[in-house]
Amino acid sequence: MPLANEVASTSATANQLYSKRADAYMRFIRTVGYPRGLRSVFMKSPALGPGLRILDAGCGTGVTTLALRSALEARGMPARAIDAFDLTPAMLSRFRAILDASGIQGVRLAEADVLQLDTLPQGWNDYDLIVTASMLEYVPRSHLPAALRALHGRLRKHGALLLFITRSNALMRPLIERWWSANLYTQAQLRLSLEDAGFTELSFGHFPFPYWHLNAWGHVVSARVHRVT
Ligand SMILES: C[S@@+](CC[C@H](N)C(=O)[O-])C[C@H]1O[C@@H](n2cnc3c(N)ncnc32)[C@H](O)[C@@H]1O
Repeated sequence: MPLANEVASTSATANQLYSKRADAYMRFIRTVGYPRGLRSVFMKSPALGPGLRILDAGCGTGVTTLALRSALEARGMPARAIDAFDLTPAMLSRFRAILDASGIQGVRLAEADVLQLDTLPQGWNDYDLIVTASMLEYVPRSHLPAALRALHGRLRKHGALLLFITRSNALMRPLIERWWSANLYTQAQLRLSLEDAGFTELSFGHFPFPYWHLNAWGHVVSARVHRVT
């Protein structure tokens, strides 16, 4: 299949999967303590600071944005702006409903594919921090560097990326690769793709206690932009 068709077909498949299984996804992540696990990483992350412009790439129903926002508030570091995009309208509409029900204002949402970021609203660039969780598993493996490069291009000089992505191991093969139709990655594969995309200062972290079990699921990676301009 030509590459452009492969990308379109992979995105369509992810859109269908999450249109059908949005509620199942929300139940699944609550059961495994994923939202609280993300928050525990954000509570300790040195990539967070006051007054940041933040983008959540592949935000889904907003679990990562909300965990991040909650950690920033608890740390006394309110964000300057939070934007979030996702491919799947059904996930975005759940996120919108959660924002409305919680009375949270100021989080802007957009529908977009990480491999076609030129469709983002104007001005969605120069971010201090991009978070992306459980999304890059859905771009074709051969396009991971391109997706990371696209995110790199939305960061300001010295901006940071916080990436959560599924590990390649025996447990994740049935649970995530087969059940959730996602790609799995080793640390070495991520390192290559991140460096290829222009990221530097790569650091592989972990979910802290009492969320250690999530380390069997995913990599927690931070990286910085190195732009010589
Ligand atoms: C497992 S969910 C993760 C959602 C959220 N980040 C979280 O941590 O709960 C995967 C999300 O990635 C989105 N997605 C898949 N491929 C995408 C792409 N190419 N561009 C943008 N979003 C994508 C799906 O629509 C879905 O909402």
